[in-house]
Amino acid sequence: MSRILITSALPYINGVKHLGNLVGSMLPADVFARFKRAQGFDVLFLCATDEHGTPAELAARAAGQSVERYCAEQHEIQKKACAEFGLSFDHFGRSSNPQNERLTQHFAAALEKNGLIEERVDRQIYSIDDQRFLPDRYVEGTCPHCAYDKARGDQCDNCGKLLDPIELKNPYSSISGSRNLEVRETKHLYLLQSKMQQAIADWVASKPEWPALTKAIAGKWIKEGLQDRSITRDLYWGVPVEIDGRPRPGFEAKVFYVWFDAPIEYIACTEEWEAAGKGRNWRSWWRLDEGAGDVRYVQFMGKDNVAFHAVSFPVTILGSKEPWKTVDTLKSLNWLTWYGGKFSTSERRGVFMDQALELLPADYWRWHLMANAPESDDASFTLEHFASVVNKDLADVLGNFVNRITRFCASKFGEQVPGEGAYGAVEAKLIADLDAKIAAYAAALEAMEFRKACAELRGVWVAGNEYLQIAAPWTAFKSDPDRAAASVRAGLNLIALFAVLSAPFIPATAAKMAAVFGIDLAKERWPASAQAALERLTPGTAFTLPEVLFKKIEDEQVAAWRVNFGAE
Ligand code: MF3
Ligand code: ZN
Repeated sequence: MSRILITSALPYINGVKHLGNLVGSMLPADVFARFKRAQGFDVLFLCATDEHGTPAELAARAAGQSVERYCAEQHEIQKKACAEFGLSFDHFGRSSNPQNERLTQHFAAALEKNGLIEERVDRQIYSIDDQRFLPDRYVEGTCPHCAYDKARGDQCDNCGKLLDPIELKNPYSSISGSRNLEVRETKHLYLLQSKMQQAIADWVASKPEWPALTKAIAGKWIKEGLQDRSITRDLYWGVPVEIDGRPRPGFEAKVFYVWFDAPIEYIACTEEWEAAGKGRNWRSWWRLDEGAGDVRYVQFMGKDNVAFHAVSFPVTILGSKEPWKTVDTLKSLNWLTWYGGKFSTSERRGVFMDQALELLPADYWRWHLMANAPESDDASFTLEHFASVVNKDLADVLGNFVNRITRFCASKFGEQVPGEGAYGAVEAKLIADLDAKIAAYAAALEAMEFRKACAELRGVWVAGNEYLQIAAPWTAFKSDPDRAAASVRAGLNLIALFAVLSAPFIPATAAKMAAVFGIDLAKERWPASAQAALERLTPGTAFTLPEVLFKKIEDEQVAAWRVNFGAE
């Protein structure tokens, strides 16, 4: 059985993610993982919280908690929200775990041994009252470009320009508010990415199958030329800069930069997965010298993450000169906007994962988000569009189909699959139609074109409705009950088929549809042919009438949500 490793970009620890984050990496990764499992692949699907760095320290401070405690709590909150959204991770790890600490230090040592790390002296702001250097966001002050007086050291939120903290006018410490600051020299470790320019360019060129968006972004970074970058920061919370368990002189108060250790967590998470007793031999997934040669590795991420995954992380891996597995396919997505603007945590604009589930079950959101995924371009989320898509696709097309055929069967033939009547020409046409549609659907999923996949799947559901329209068992029942029985049998089999096909997108509903016939969806495989699928249910199989699968969203609900979630 061939193996597929799937990772989603690691959500940052500070707060539950919004729907835009969800559709940018975790959700498409889940859809793909579910599809591949149904096809019979041995899938390992991993994700984790990305916990280090300034934002975590600052958020913990704002919450009045230690950063350890803050991260532990936030991890559990995100883990729960992900589980409730049906994200089927085999393990949801933490980048602050010891496995990642060890591996991060290991990679740094290997890179240094290969001449790819060097100490450099930087000029940086030191806070005398706080007795520490202040990294990026710990300094605030007046923007030199637009005079906004709350600009952060890394970027001005008013004019958007990127800043170096020493450029700020009237700087103050965001920890203590102290203006008692001075510029001092301090050492940092630099990763000499420029030395890897050719190696990375060659490696990217060896990946012709990358989707267009990924290739375009990676190509741009390579063309601009790889820059050496500092991989240490003056923070308490992070992976300590140690070599063989000993602090590196001059780096006692420093840690590795969060973007250096975060992607290494993909590997460390696999080690965590094994340590948690969920699997064995994590190295066989990652080490080419220990069996990883047959693994296909697929990564999912938002477009802002491509540079880190297509360039920086490969520098770490290839620069180690150790036989680690690198990514095969890298799927990236554009932004989902909230009514054309930004989702914003601080301004309470947009719907966040936990809030979404208070309104409606996960499948409603999963379907709409994926059917409207920001693939070829940014896409806008509006509650109005969400309601109309749910009402049409899920309630009218899929839900109605299931309801209609099960209820008709129960009233005329009882709650079991009727055995009378043989399939005829109408069913032959349906089968041919379905074979073509299922092939197109699978091809879209394989290509990770999720909008297209949703359109194809909707087409499959529509074909079922059209079939019932033509076969019209309700009319046939009076003149030719065997004919009616055959088409009811076909209709019931279509429910079981739709369950398997729809599971990647709407897993909870698919499980309910399968459960109508006592089928455990986890054991079902992707259909070999429509012919076989229409004979899946043995005549006489009992079924239970399902509850209504999807409730329509009313205009009044949309109006109320608009107010609550800040829709303009
Ligand atoms: N936390 C980052 C973000 O939200 C993504 C990190 S992906 C990783 O943009 F691989 F580096 F962990
Ligand atoms: Zn500015």
